[in-house]
Amino acid sequence: MPRPTETKAWQALASEAARMREVHLRDLFADDPGRSERYKATAAGLTLDYSRHRVDDATLGRLVDLARAMEVEAWRDRMYAGARINTSENRAVLHVALRDLDDAFGCAVDGVAVHGEVRTVLAQMRAFSEAVRTGAWAGHTGKPISDVVNIGIGGSDLGPRMVCTALAPHHDGPRTHFVSNVDGQAITEVLEAVDPETTLFVIASKTFTTQETLTNAHSARDWFLASGADDAAIARHFVAMSTNTEAVAAFGIDPENMFRFWDWVGGRYSLWSAIGLPIVLALGMDRYEALLRGAHAMDRHFLETPLDQNLPVLMALLGAWYNNFLDFSTHAVIPYDHRLRLLPSFLQQLDMESNGKRVTRDGEPVAWATGPVVWGGVGTDAQHAFFQLLHQGTQVTPVDFIVAETPAHGLASHHRILRANCEAQAEALWRGREAPQGEPHRAFGGNRPSSLLSFERLDAQTLGALVAAYEHKVFVQGVLWDVNSFDQWGVELGKAMAGALLEKGAG
Ligand code: F6P
Repeated sequence: MPRPTETKAWQALASEAARMREVHLRDLFADDPGRSERYKATAAGLTLDYSRHRVDDATLGRLVDLARAMEVEAWRDRMYAGARINTSENRAVLHVALRDLDDAFGCAVDGVAVHGEVRTVLAQMRAFSEAVRTGAWAGHTGKPISDVVNIGIGGSDLGPRMVCTALAPHHDGPRTHFVSNVDGQAITEVLEAVDPETTLFVIASKTFTTQETLTNAHSARDWFLASGADDAAIARHFVAMSTNTEAVAAFGIDPENMFRFWDWVGGRYSLWSAIGLPIVLALGMDRYEALLRGAHAMDRHFLETPLDQNLPVLMALLGAWYNNFLDFSTHAVIPYDHRLRLLPSFLQQLDMESNGKRVTRDGEPVAWATGPVVWGGVGTDAQHAFFQLLHQGTQVTPVDFIVAETPAHGLASHHRILRANCEAQAEALWRGREAPQGEPHRAFGGNRPSSLLSFERLDAQTLGALVAAYEHKVFVQGVLWDVNSFDQWGVELGKAMAGALLEKGAG
């Protein structure tokens, strides 16, 4: 594998950067008025408008050259073929198989097809969720389940929590609550709001060894038993999603009530697996399958579309352009959509846990920037919080604006204002404004790049496509930087130290 900096494309991009540093987006628009129409990619119901980026055809050509030099297509094909591309953990990476409902990709690990097992768990999720949602699965005193409490952290929390929030207008199942933090306040607040007779705890942990999750799960079980329920009642009120059957049984959950997944599903890529159970309980299996189908449509696009029109590839290349060549080391995600308010936190884990790496796949130190700091917030709130820095700060932060054409609510005037604000911010960022005489504080330099990701409406299918687009973006960037995007050794040390401190009696 070539080191990225040693490719001809990298060197050409370094020259491009020297050229582009002197060019303003105002000039790019003036010289090429057609760029607004041309710099668009569409996929699975999403449109990416990338005309407000500090690139022209030559820059884009060199970026695609870099993707070719780093063998993005070959790595993508290896991922879909079930190769063990997560080398430090010796695992395949097959979240695309989880949403391949018709087995179009025929994914297999070591020659063994995975589709059958995936379908079996999906059928188990359907049967269980329908029983809970209809009341056929009742609590131990015979009352229907009114509340579901998901106990999990990181990938076993952020994805389902974000999806349930984003699709809240479609919520027609039991109320859902999410407890992740080991801070006892988190679970205390939820337990105060629910009734032990009508609450189902879903314990989400790939490893079933995560300290925060097990601590919260034990507290939930103690609370449940303290209500007068006996051990046998646990089976009606506790289920698990995990890869670790032994640990689930040791906790006291009947393995019959375990929804399994596999080591080829990374934690931050697991909302498409049994970890999606709270989504299914809240929204129903048909909507969950629509989410999977939306992601699959993006998977197909990513697999089949030439690099220069490939939506997640373009997102990745533009990110690398800023991170590696213009030294913009942070990236903001700003949905103009209240429902997507948790998307920035979800993407922080997806991106920063995947590409926050300092050695190559072969263990050599990198000599180039890898994953950027990803952050963000929801528009228009963010305008009144941190946009000052986006417009006039000394650091340039590329932005992803995300917006739906049609809202889920009936307040058309609100949506017009929301969209106008989104467009205005993107416009102000690139165009800037000269200061009135003697008022330098009112100058906007402009030339600040952004993407606009838009879609007709935010439904399960669109959300699936949106999340999958970001997953593939992160994958492509990992390939460009020659890092393993699928391990997370960086979180181990702190975990081990906390364990050691507790053994010494700290806290
Ligand atoms: O924070 C590290 C991590 O391993 C994440 O990658 C993962 O999503 C999270 O912990 C939770 O792990 P588990 O599902 O095994 O409890």
